[in-house]
Formats: sequence, C-alpha cells, structure tokens
Amino acid sequence: MCGIVGYIGKKQAAPIILDGLARLEYRGYDSAGMAIFDGERINIKKSVGRLKILENLTHDGKMMPGLLGIGHTRWATHGAPNNENSHPHFNEDETIAVVHNGIIENYLALRKKMTDKGYHFRSETDTEVLAHLLDYYYKGNPLEAITKVLHRVSGSYALGIMFADHPDEIFAVRKDSPLIVGQNEDGCFIASDVPAILKYTRTVTYVENQEIVRLREDHMHFYTVDEEEIAKTPVTIDWDANAAEKGGYEHFMLKEMYEQPKTVSDTISPRLKGNEIVIEELNMSDDEIRAIKKIHIVACGSAYHTGVTAKYVMEGLARIPVEVDVASEFRYRNPILEEGALVIVISQSGETADSLAALRESKARGFKVLGIVNVVGSSIAREADNVMYTWAGPEIAVATTKAYSAQLVALYLLAIKFAQVKETIDEIEFDGMLEDLKRLPDQIELLLNNKQRIQRFANRYIGAKDVFFIGRGIDYAISLEGSLKLKEISYIHSEAYAAGELKHGTISLIEEGTLVAAVSTQPALYQKTISNMVEVKARGAFVLAVTCEGNKEIEKAADYVIYIPETNAYFANSLAIIPLQLFGYYVAVGKGCDVDKPRNLAKSVTVE
Ligand code: G6P
Repeated sequence: MCGIVGYIGKKQAAPIILDGLARLEYRGYDSAGMAIFDGERINIKKSVGRLKILENLTHDGKMMPGLLGIGHTRWATHGAPNNENSHPHFNEDETIAVVHNGIIENYLALRKKMTDKGYHFRSETDTEVLAHLLDYYYKGNPLEAITKVLHRVSGSYALGIMFADHPDEIFAVRKDSPLIVGQNEDGCFIASDVPAILKYTRTVTYVENQEIVRLREDHMHFYTVDEEEIAKTPVTIDWDANAAEKGGYEHFMLKEMYEQPKTVSDTISPRLKGNEIVIEELNMSDDEIRAIKKIHIVACGSAYHTGVTAKYVMEGLARIPVEVDVASEFRYRNPILEEGALVIVISQSGETADSLAALRESKARGFKVLGIVNVVGSSIAREADNVMYTWAGPEIAVATTKAYSAQLVALYLLAIKFAQVKETIDEIEFDGMLEDLKRLPDQIELLLNNKQRIQRFANRYIGAKDVFFIGRGIDYAISLEGSLKLKEISYIHSEAYAAGELKHGTISLIEEGTLVAAVSTQPALYQKTISNMVEVKARGAFVLAVTCEGNKEIEKAADYVIYIPETNAYFANSLAIIPLQLFGYYVAVGKGCDVDKPRNLAKSVTVE
C-alpha cells in the first residue's frame, strides 16, 4: 500500500527510483509519480495507472536528469486516483516536494489552518498539508522545519522530502508506516521495503517511529523529533535478490505456490531437534505453557484464516480455548483479556496497521504478545515480545500462498508443543504427528505437480458468476481461504459457508450449474458433508469435492473429485489448500486478470 523510493548519489536518480518502484508494485497502487532535482529546480512527473505509463512518459527516467529525487506509488485513500492527488506534492512555489505513505488524521484542521493563512490546495489529499506546513515552518533549516511539522501532525506516515535549496540532501521520516534506508558506495536510498533497493545494496537500516534521516551522497544521519542526533546500526540483508524475482514463472503467485514445499520445510525443520519440537523464540518454560488459560489469535485476511484453522488444531490437540479475531474488530471491541491469556498476532508483512494496533492494545494491557511474522525486522516483529518467524522469504504476489502455508505449519508446531507439555497427547500421537509434518513438503509438491487437471477444470469456470465453498470444522477454515483466493484475483463473487449453515439462507442462491466446492478432509465429518453436497446437487449445483485419498464414497455425491494424500486430519489444510490456490489462479489467468496485482488490493495494508 503506497510505495516510496528515494535516492541521492553519483548516479542518475530517476531510473533507480523507477526500478525501485517497480519492485514495490506488489504493494498495490493506482498512480505513480516522482520528483527529481535537475540542478536548478525540482521537476515532478505523475501518471495514473500502471508504472509503465510513468516509465514511458519519462523515457525510463532519461527525460528527468538529476542526482537526487523521491518517487511514489499511490494507493488512493483521500481523493480519487488522478494526477492532482498523485504524489509527490509540492508547496506553492515548488521548492519543497513530499511523498507520503499513511494517513494524516488531523489533516482537515491543518488544511483549514493553512487555507486561512492563504495557502492554496491543488489536491484533495491529506499529504498536501505536509508540503504547505513544511513551507510555513521552513526558514532555511530543513531539519528544523520537519521537526516542527511532526509536532503538529497526528496519524501515520512514512515520508520522503526534498528541498530545492538543499540539493545535497533528501530526508526520510517515519511513524507507523514502514520505511528503511540503505547505502552503497555510490549513494543513499530510501524505500518502503527491502526488495526496492536490494539490487543496489544489502546494507539497510530500519527507521524507527519518529526518527528523521538526513541522507547525503556519502552518509546518513539520524535524528529524533527533537533534532538530537542518534546512532543506528545497519543490518545486512542475507536473502537472495533473486528471491524477489519471477525466475521464469509467468506470475509471482505461481512461483510462490511452487515455493511452498520449501517454505513449509524451512519453517518446520529448524524447530525439530531430533525427536523434539524446540521453539526457542517462544521464550516460555513448560510451567508457563501449562499456565496458558486462553489464546487470542488476531490477524487480517489470509493470516486470519490460518488463525481460524489454529483454533480447531489448538483446541483439539492442546485443549486450550482459542478466540480468533479479525484485528480491526479486536482493537475496538474492548476485548476481555484475563490472566493467563496469550495473544498471538499473525502477519506476513508485519506491517498491517490493524494487527499492529491490536498488538499494541494487548501490550498496553500488560499481556505478552507472540508474533508469527514473515518479514524480519518489520514493526510487528520488533514490537512483539517474542517472534516466531515463518521462513517464507519475500512474498510479492498480493494474494498470499507461501506465507499462508508457512503460518499454518508454525501454528501446528505451537499446538503440538503445547499439547505435549500439557500431556493432552501421548507419545505415540506426538511421534506420528512429527512424521506427518515432515511428509507435508513432499505431499504439497505432489499436489502442485498435478496442476494440469485443476487447470483444465478451472478453464470451465472462467465465466462463473458465483462460487460457493463449503466445509465443516477445519474444512470450513480451508473454505474461507479457498474462497478468498478465488475472489481476490479472479473477481468472481464467492463465499465460504460452514456446510451445516448452508440451509439457513444461502442454499436459495444455488441455481442450475452453480459451482459448489465442498471440502471434506475430516473423516469424522465425511457423512455430514456428503449430506450437504447432496442437498446442493439436488438443486442443480455442480459439486467439486476436495477430499482425502480413500474417501471413495464421496464420488456418489460429487461431480468432480480432487484427492489429497493421507495426513493427520489436523494438518489437512496444508494439502487441501493447494488445489484451491491453483483453481483460483487458473480461473484468474483464464480471465486475463492481473493475477499478481489485483485491482483495489494492496499487499501490505498500512492504513486502518
Ligand atoms: C492484505 C493481503 C492479504 C493478507 C492480509 C494480511 O489484505 O492482500 O494477502 O492476508 O493483507 O496481511 P499480513 O501482512 O498482516 O499477513
């Protein structure tokens, strides 16, 4: 959601900024722009739509010469995606340019204040007030002007700022929106996320809340909002730049689906020591685990769906009550957290605004938070008391696949560990589960290799209007994710229902030919789900079933069956989701949708 890239150095800035913005495209955006200082003045070019348009407009940046600049991809919040609202924004005499990710919450009051002082606004954005405020407080010292502005704004922001009369420096600021800075022998960089600049440098520094960075060609200085200089330690990024490239696949989503055997294995293996599960990051003694009375799982989107699955797994295995909340609900519902509660926040990006707010709310009430996070060094990773990383590597496609799969197995590990400590499972069950966990990567691979069959099936549903996913228990959790995958990338309306709930209303939507995907991986519930399949089939539905090998009986009620290999019923989600991801993907590809960057969506939702 909004991408920022800035550069100052010996090289031409515009091509570097365009290249960086292209690597942030996955975050979601609807317009783009950049500001470059040409030696005399700041020039701005903007375009609505894909970055390609800005690249063409500027001849890949060649039309905008200059050694420093800031660029932005905008995901519209205040005002439509048009040129006026696109970033960068100027002050009136075009000597200060600003790009912003986040929301300035008191912008209406500030806008009025600045209008009363005679400033004219060109856009509807909250960001433009920053440009005018900077102008108002600027008396020749950029740092002083920036700190004055920061004392007057509330909300969230990552900012890139440049001043025409300080052509040897650019500035970066952050509060509650992600921002990093990096350096190489040629210059210094600002970016919303590491992949944007990984091609140029692996030495990056995470900017903390309310820190200001002054970047020059050969050095960076960090300051507090009170203009005090602070020392910061850069980190070296050790993952491979290729991890954020498509590597021959048609889409990032397909590549990331294919990475699932590895990410699942990478998330499990380091935590299996011999015949033990060792989760050092948990930092909990066995007594502390036994003292957990309740688990609150908080997350958004697909991460929330892994939480729904975890509820069944944790409660079933460890007999600990689990409440799962969508983060945007949790933070405002005054949740009841009582002694013995453990809060788990799950997030791929580690930057989702609502999940971060839920974490802070829990910590403020004195509860420990365990983060299950993919992006190392992200806000949730840094603020959680303990972090269990999912080792999925950079995920670029907006629709998550490999991070989802890694989250699932991280949660299984926790559940088995808790169950073992609480002695709610015996040794034989424990050993069997470890064996099943270890087999998951190969089984996922097997399912991925059967993709042609799903592709052929998906091609028949390119024209579908509505699709329903049904299941019971864990199969309901799988249905939620299967349905989300389909709708978010193919724009086909789709809903997931607890199979037993169908006849309380939704069944009236079933017409001749409506596709109903029935997920049935829990042997204890096979018969129940078959009954629901028969009900929809009797009303004209075409039933696709996803079930476990051996459940031949399902063929009587289904029109098309996809079998998943045998595993522990608690882990079935990890296998059943694979054909559903492939189904969503191939329907979207068949429809010609922009699979990796679906309309209106953002990868990292940094506003609430
Ligand atoms: C966005 C993404 C989803 C993701 C959700 C939560 O909506 O498009 O794929 O599941 O945010 O993101 P997080 O980074 O917190 O897991």
